[in-house]
Amino acid sequence: MFILNQTPSIAGNLIIELRDENLQKDRRRFRDNLTQLGYLLGYEISKSLSFTSQEIQTPLAKTSENALGSKLVLVCMMRASLPFYQGFLKCFPNADSAFIGVKRVEGKMPEVEIDLGYLASADINDKELIICDPMLATGKSILETITQLLKVGSPSKIHLASAFAAPEGINLLKKELRIPFKFWLGSLEAGLNDKFYIVPGLGDAGDLAFGKKL
Ligand code: URA
Repeated sequence: MFILNQTPSIAGNLIIELRDENLQKDRRRFRDNLTQLGYLLGYEISKSLSFTSQEIQTPLAKTSENALGSKLVLVCMMRASLPFYQGFLKCFPNADSAFIGVKRVEGKMPEVEIDLGYLASADINDKELIICDPMLATGKSILETITQLLKVGSPSKIHLASAFAAPEGINLLKKELRIPFKFWLGSLEAGLNDKFYIVPGLGDAGDLAFGKKL
């Protein structure tokens, strides 16, 4: 498991701004910060990918550099993932994408239910998936998303990327997923409250980015 804020870096400033209830009122800033955090996590993930040496001719000489070899599919869980996913797409502009509509069904305590809608995916066979979920809470949305994706193909590996993650969701995924995967987190959080929100977290990422849903 990789945890970005375990090492002090500018990611800390992004996390501070994302959590701050006053700064959150600026939706554009909130979305931009999630995008930047996605970009930074993408960069960290890139260090684990495969590269091939590529020759290039500059105006002055021939040289070589490492070029990304891994074939990636970025998974966007709408709607909350959109700004976070954008950061990964900036980092991996040649990656393919999969989009899935995921909604929590509230008011069914003590369990959260997940409602899945739209699914449109590029070919995921033998590709590395990066699941972009800014808030890993119960883990059920990711589990459902992966279950649906595995019906359309067989990826070689799964990267689970979250800005904020609760131990409850991490434990569920460790127990249930039967495919190699690794967690890439911005921050590992204390846990969930009785409404299954991450604490300290930041609140509802989808509402903060796009407006309170009806
Ligand atoms: N989704 C959110 O947006 N926030 C949480 O705390 C948990 C899930």
